[in-house]
Formats: sequence, C-alpha cells, structure tokens
Amino acid sequence: MLETWEELEKSIVDCNKCKLCKTRRNIVFGTGNKNAKIMFIGEGPGADEDMQGIPFVGRAGKLMNMAFGIVGIKREDVYIANIVKCRPPANRNPEEDEANACLDYLRNQVTLVKPEIIVLLGSVALKNILGKEYGITASRGKWFEKMQIKYMPTWHPAALLRDETKKVDFIKDLKLVVEELNK
Ligand code: URA
Repeated sequence: MLETWEELEKSIVDCNKCKLCKTRRNIVFGTGNKNAKIMFIGEGPGADEDMQGIPFVGRAGKLMNMAFGIVGIKREDVYIANIVKCRPPANRNPEEDEANACLDYLRNQVTLVKPEIIVLLGSVALKNILGKEYGITASRGKWFEKMQIKYMPTWHPAALLRDETKKVDFIKDLKLVVEELNK
C-alpha cells in the first residue's frame, strides 16, 4: 500500500499488469476530491474517457452529472474511479484477470480517500467490491457495510441510457446517500 497520492500516481504511469495496456490511449486513474466523503466506483473507461484520461466524461457521465445536480451532489466534492483504469476494447466488461490486476490501485485509492460512503455503479463494481454472489437488481438501493465503509449499489449510469425507468431508481438511491451523509 503506497502512502501518498504522488507515489500511487507514479506507480501506475507505465502500468502493464494486464492486456488492456496494449489498446489504451490513456490511463483513467480517477478524479475529484481526495478527501471526499463519497466515492463513486464505475466499471471502466469508455471511448471518451480513454481519450481524455478522466472518468465519466461521456454520455453516461453527463447523465450522472445531471443526477448529481438533482440530488445536490457536487462533482468536485466526490471522488470518482473505476474497477479497471484502462478501456476494455469495444467497451466489453473487464475480464477477471484484468479486474484482479487493477484492483490494488483502487484499494489504495480507497485507503487514501477514506470515504464514509462508496456508491457502486453497476454489476461489475458490485461484484468486484462486495462479492460475486451479489446481483445488482436485488442489491441496488440497499446499504451494505464492510470495514467501516457504507456501500450503496445502484444502476450503472449507462443502464439509464438504455432504460429510462431506471432513472427514478438512480435518483432515489443517490438521495439515500445524501440523506445518510447529512444524518
Ligand atoms: N463507464 C464507466 O464505468 N466508467 C467510466 O469512467 C465511463 C463510463
């Protein structure tokens, strides 16, 4: 476990721990407030993120920003990262070896941010963080606690683009997060 952001950021610069390094344009490390109370974990960079090196800047990210506005979350107050830091080709799900190779970076980010709450965006984040036995449909909107961090699984914002009805759930879940923080 590296103790500073500087060391951690330096350690990832030339990462070749998995095959995604061969096709990436940029490593998408993470962004936001390094002392955030809320952290968001997505799946992996898409095309826009790969181009810009910043998570959730594409269509799904814009939708997430809109939802943040509705519930009163400021993007600059939270920390946002992904299970894998490099884009899986054609936006396929990250494979198990890729996620496993990358997870130490994320664990180190969580240790440095020390969030009270982690929002797990979609099934890939849920399964890699809480366990393969969890399913997003049954778990979303419910609180889980592990090692003194509260977890709120919810839909991945890209799922809202495919199914409008999930937007209501997503807003509801984010409201639970804001309420919990303001307790
Ligand atoms: N989808 C993700 O899971 N992460 C991003 O950064 C962008 C889209």
